[in-house]
Amino acid sequence: MKVLVVGNGGREHALAWKLLQSPKVQQVTCIPGNGGTASLAHCQNLPLSLDDFEGIGRFALVNGIALVVIGPEVPLAAGITDYLRHQHLTVFGPTRLGAQIEASKAWAKALMQEANIPTAQAAVFTEKDAAQAYVQAQGAPIVVKADGLAAGKGVTVAATVAEAQAAIAAIFEGQFGKAGERVVIEACLTGQEVSVLAITDGITIRPLLPAQDHKRIGDGDTGLNTGGMGAYAPAPIATPALMQRIQTEILEPTIAALQERKIDYCGVLYAGLMITPEGDPNVIEFNCRFGDPETQAILPLLETPLDELLLACAQKRLAAQPPIVWKAGAAACVVMAAEGYPGGFRKGDRITGVDAAEEQGAVVFHAGTQLKQQRLVTDGGRVLGVTATGETFDAAIAQAYAAVNATHFDGAYYRHDIGDRVRTAESASS
Ligand code: AMP
Ligand code: GLY
Repeated sequence: MKVLVVGNGGREHALAWKLLQSPKVQQVTCIPGNGGTASLAHCQNLPLSLDDFEGIGRFALVNGIALVVIGPEVPLAAGITDYLRHQHLTVFGPTRLGAQIEASKAWAKALMQEANIPTAQAAVFTEKDAAQAYVQAQGAPIVVKADGLAAGKGVTVAATVAEAQAAIAAIFEGQFGKAGERVVIEACLTGQEVSVLAITDGITIRPLLPAQDHKRIGDGDTGLNTGGMGAYAPAPIATPALMQRIQTEILEPTIAALQERKIDYCGVLYAGLMITPEGDPNVIEFNCRFGDPETQAILPLLETPLDELLLACAQKRLAAQPPIVWKAGAAACVVMAAEGYPGGFRKGDRITGVDAAEEQGAVVFHAGTQLKQQRLVTDGGRVLGVTATGETFDAAIAQAYAAVNATHFDGAYYRHDIGDRVRTAESASS
């Protein structure tokens, strides 16, 4: 069967790579793809824009695409699934209404509050003065969020009231355009974060292995927020008992609340969770898609063919699907970014050493790369997601960093502490 993957990040490279391991998948096309998907056997890129729904639909129909997998949130929120389904294509990814769970934090918060899903207490404002008065009354720390999609940059965890006021002023002055027409202000939660990506056909929902992301740019979780600088799976904090609670207290009630709103949600429901010091899971945010870089750490551990799972969701028969099978062991992904990221960065630097890294047994997922006249060059802020699996976290992390050392481009930046939290005390101190 032929599959179409929409998007151009490390997540989409990982999806294409995993899909091609399935005996049933003959060919994957990525729109627009990147240097990594251009280099994969049986994979091709098609340079269409993500908002060219008509062009994407036409390609899929003419080429007999059996399954379309949508990677990023922006086309989902713009209704790509609605459009393609209307063309009778089989699509994995929620409709425009379902994607609101990520595209409007106020909408998601209302859904959680109505369904009694544990989340930080919050209020929504459309006027600056009222928002600032609320912050003044609540005090700090407090969290200020632009309502809409802001590429991961719309959240300020404010340590002081002044910081929160400045964030509110910037949002209402148009920092995030229409995404900032509403502001969500919520209580600050403490604890450990975990990403639970679950696949659903809108009726049944099943979690993938839990993962942990590293959102800040600097070692020790310091500096600016990024799209994610590395990940590992399976996150030990999400024990089987906790995963059971997440299933019954969060995932299932969310699907029920979506059904109540007549939303037929097929795709990934990604719950970004804070596990409080008491051990209770709280939702920080929902995303309507696979996480990046979590997907790069999760998929190498998946044994069940990915196409089977995604098709079972798109065809509403997930309940009949056998349990998902995972490989034993652990996976770690270290993101190599361009100098200056998450601020301004340069593109076009030559990348070398990817083959050497892969010969050592790592998998190098490309995030921002381009193949230009057969030469691989940097083409984004996050450039590579260097990923390795191992019997233990120590082994997976050591192999991922050995592969990072084998890979080079000018100005490459990466965190040195991906997975430190799960390494054994002995190896962490050596
Ligand atoms: P989001 O874009 O909603 O994932 O938020 C980005 C990051 O901000 C999260 O990964 C958390 O680290 C932090 N954050 C968001 N909401 C809260 C909250 N209510 N309490 C503490 N930290 C938060
Ligand atoms: N890694 C965070 C995200 O995908 O939103």
